[in-house]
Amino acid sequence: MIRVGIIGCGFMGGMLAACYQALGVQVVAVADPRTEYAKEVAAKSGAAIYENGMALIEQANVNVVDICLPTDLHVRHAVAAMRKGLDVFVEKPVCIKEEEMEEILRVKNETGRKVQVGQVIRFWTEYVWLKQAADSGRFGRVLCGEFRRLSALPTWASEGWLHKPERSGGVAVDMHVHDVDFVRYLMGEPDTVRAQAYRDESGLIQQIYEIYGYGSDVGICIEAGWNYPQTFPFTAGFRVKFEKATVVLDGGVLTVYPDEGEAYRPELNEDFQGDNDIGGNISSLGGYYNELKYFTEGLRGEHPLEVATVEEAIRSVRLVKKGVESAGGLIVK
Ligand SMILES: NC(=O)c1ccc[n+]([C@@H]2O[C@H](COP(=O)([O-])OP(=O)(O)OC[C@H]3O[C@@H](n4cnc5c(N)ncnc54)[C@H](O)[C@@H]3O)[C@@H](O)[C@H]2O)c1
Repeated sequence: MIRVGIIGCGFMGGMLAACYQALGVQVVAVADPRTEYAKEVAAKSGAAIYENGMALIEQANVNVVDICLPTDLHVRHAVAAMRKGLDVFVEKPVCIKEEEMEEILRVKNETGRKVQVGQVIRFWTEYVWLKQAADSGRFGRVLCGEFRRLSALPTWASEGWLHKPERSGGVAVDMHVHDVDFVRYLMGEPDTVRAQAYRDESGLIQQIYEIYGYGSDVGICIEAGWNYPQTFPFTAGFRVKFEKATVVLDGGVLTVYPDEGEAYRPELNEDFQGDNDIGGNISSLGGYYNELKYFTEGLRGEHPLEVATVEEAIRSVRLVKKGVESAGGLIVK
């Protein structure tokens, strides 16, 4: 039986705990030095509470940990868990530093543990549909496209870690990695990367625009920004032009505009709607439920865990870093 320990009970820890509950998977331990957050997540499942992640890894009766910590703490916990013989789900971005990428990969290979990274867009219904449409070839090849992810300044992060670039990588790593990873999944590694950034007074990137080139005639534009006013709604979507149709996700609505015939909304598998709306910028459990369903099925041996591997997640962070370099660096004074 799967017995999960959730490490970090902030925004994502709460979200993923709700998903495990909806999946009927037991969360038997949680860890967070912010006791009130740990208690809130534990209350739903009766989980034992630990004061930090390392204590949970050492002492709890779990066989899986789900790491929902600030990004700079991911790898040391993932490595300790794998060395203890535990399987691991770790949030995106898997890590920022090159040496950490090498370490997590080395320990995963040495221990043979199962690891999935929270590259959730690969499991988000409309994006899953787009990937299947592209792979099937039914609209011909992709000619160009645009992906975007924009939000008001995130305010929830514990100790403001999201706004410390050495901990989160700022928007150019933390939020942008979602679409960079998905575009890599859809299109492969780009041949060329060009980026331009808008920065705040400290010189830190607050908005990034990237253009990925594929061959001589295909371009994909990706943008991410998170310093919009607090009244600005979370916005994510895409527009992809194929040879025979254009597909648009705007305002949560997916529409296909065929070159011939009427526009239509494709039928989608309904996202799971939890009865516990935990807030944040996404009220449905959506892709989070889907990714953990896939992960827990993989843990039970129902299929290999091959969609959001640590190898893939690392390639995506490396690509993000290439874009940041092309924009002149994460911080330019
Ligand atoms: N997949 C997504 O869509 C998505 C969305 C938001 C955040 N994230 C990622 O999830 C991770 C967590 O982000 P968040 O928004 O939940 O942050 P958060 O600040 O809301 O939560 C992090 C929690 O970890 C706790 N913590 C810190 N040190 C700890 C330790 N040693 N042991 C146990 N707990 C500890 C903090 O007290 C806090 O409660 C980040 O990597 C972030 O990039 C992913």
